[in-house]
Amino acid sequence: MGINSLDSDTSGASEQPGQANPFAPSEVLAALSLRCVECTTLYPGFEAMPRYRCECGGVLDVETPFQLPAARRASPAVVVSGRESDVIPLAGAAWRQLFDERACTPPIWSLSPVTLLPDRSGVWRYRELILPVPETAIVSRPEGNTGLYPVGLENCDESRVGHRQIGMFAGIERLFLKHEGENPTGSFKDRGMTVGVTMARLRGARAVACASTGNTSASLASYAAQAGMQGIVFLPAGQIAGGKLAQSLAYGATTVQIKGDFDAAMQLVEQVCNEMGIYLLNSLNPFRVEGQKAIGLEILQQLDWQAPDWLVLPAGNLGNTSAIGKAFRQAHQLGLINHLPRIASIQAAGANPFYRSFQQQFARRERVHAQTVASAIKIGDPVSYARARRVIEESNGLVEEVTDEEILVAKTVIDRSGLGCEPASAAALAGVKKLAARGIIRRDERVVAVLTGHLLKDSSTGIPQSVSEQAIEPTLDAVKRALKL
Ligand code: F0G
Repeated sequence: MGINSLDSDTSGASEQPGQANPFAPSEVLAALSLRCVECTTLYPGFEAMPRYRCECGGVLDVETPFQLPAARRASPAVVVSGRESDVIPLAGAAWRQLFDERACTPPIWSLSPVTLLPDRSGVWRYRELILPVPETAIVSRPEGNTGLYPVGLENCDESRVGHRQIGMFAGIERLFLKHEGENPTGSFKDRGMTVGVTMARLRGARAVACASTGNTSASLASYAAQAGMQGIVFLPAGQIAGGKLAQSLAYGATTVQIKGDFDAAMQLVEQVCNEMGIYLLNSLNPFRVEGQKAIGLEILQQLDWQAPDWLVLPAGNLGNTSAIGKAFRQAHQLGLINHLPRIASIQAAGANPFYRSFQQQFARRERVHAQTVASAIKIGDPVSYARARRVIEESNGLVEEVTDEEILVAKTVIDRSGLGCEPASAAALAGVKKLAARGIIRRDERVVAVLTGHLLKDSSTGIPQSVSEQAIEPTLDAVKRALKL
């Protein structure tokens, strides 16, 4: 086991019940509950000791009573007319109006140190549906507000020839890429992390920990540093892309490399957190999942609340599948959208336990020894299996697998378009192409694929490693020869 920068005493890292916590949980927080996804047992959302699992071992899901801000409750419904496909349920009008007004917050930073401008965050803008906390407790960069790029044959015109290559590759007319690599630390994890670290602060935690294939750890390290907490990350030694490891180290997290894979690190960190009272920030923590719901909500808002037909995303530990699926279900229940998008989770063929279970109608939970070039999703025993299974079933979704070769081909297409992404993200596009070729996704359906991480996270996989064999003389002639002009 290799440990970097274990510079402070972690034995006292736990929450400090005796010490005054300026962010004592509000009454609203007390109204939350946690329900076991397996046996439906209900627990209070905020107990003295944090709870990550049910007594039966099942994972937990946050249940929140949604309430519009008091001033909005009597607001008149907005009447929407138009083609049938444009008619959006009236019940959600007040919510849509609230979120749309917040999205128009001017880009001016407050000089007051206590005003955090939560409306500017692509997570906290939806706070009533995420976590109703006192605004001063929020730890935010802010995150979200990532691009939703039209790249399909019909929704991307010839003038953006690079992006249009992606639609041509996938064979889809109305395709959008949601680039979550544009978050502050370069991956979608920041959305769950802002909520997780805010919760840690509300609990008075001094240290937070996670196991990671690299992106969760980078995000945790950054948010823990911002909040003045000790970040502790458990990484499978030698299996983390360079950019991600560099982030953890640079942000000053205590970085523990273990001799084992992600699944072993995950088991270990749960044990460590329970034993040492450190606050766990993997997506086993149900509040992380609440934050990640914001990816789904922001996509809906960017599409003017017209739900897409399909949402396609790479799947590893299955937190994201669970979160986006939950967001869509709740948005549908609240009347924000008029139909549920189908969710397609895409796994790497060498790390495909969820796909294997799906093939047998989820009769058995499968586990594998994972192997894939996409290190972010090299996971054989996903923690959020039960949550994600529910999402696939409820949304009439599916699980597909793609080979490493298909992932790398799709990554090159995304990279060459000028957008770029890390290998795991490209699994989403490889999946769209495969499902379109099989006629499962129709060419004319509206499809959103999520790019989960930034190109620079992993600069050694699927990218040419040298510009040219030799440096040239700094002369015009030498340039002409080199460019073969
Ligand atoms: N894409 C990227 C870039 C990821 O980092 C991850 C997960 C996924 C996709 C899969 O998402 O686990 O919610 O199904 N990365 C985790 C980590 C495991 O530790 O950074 P998931």
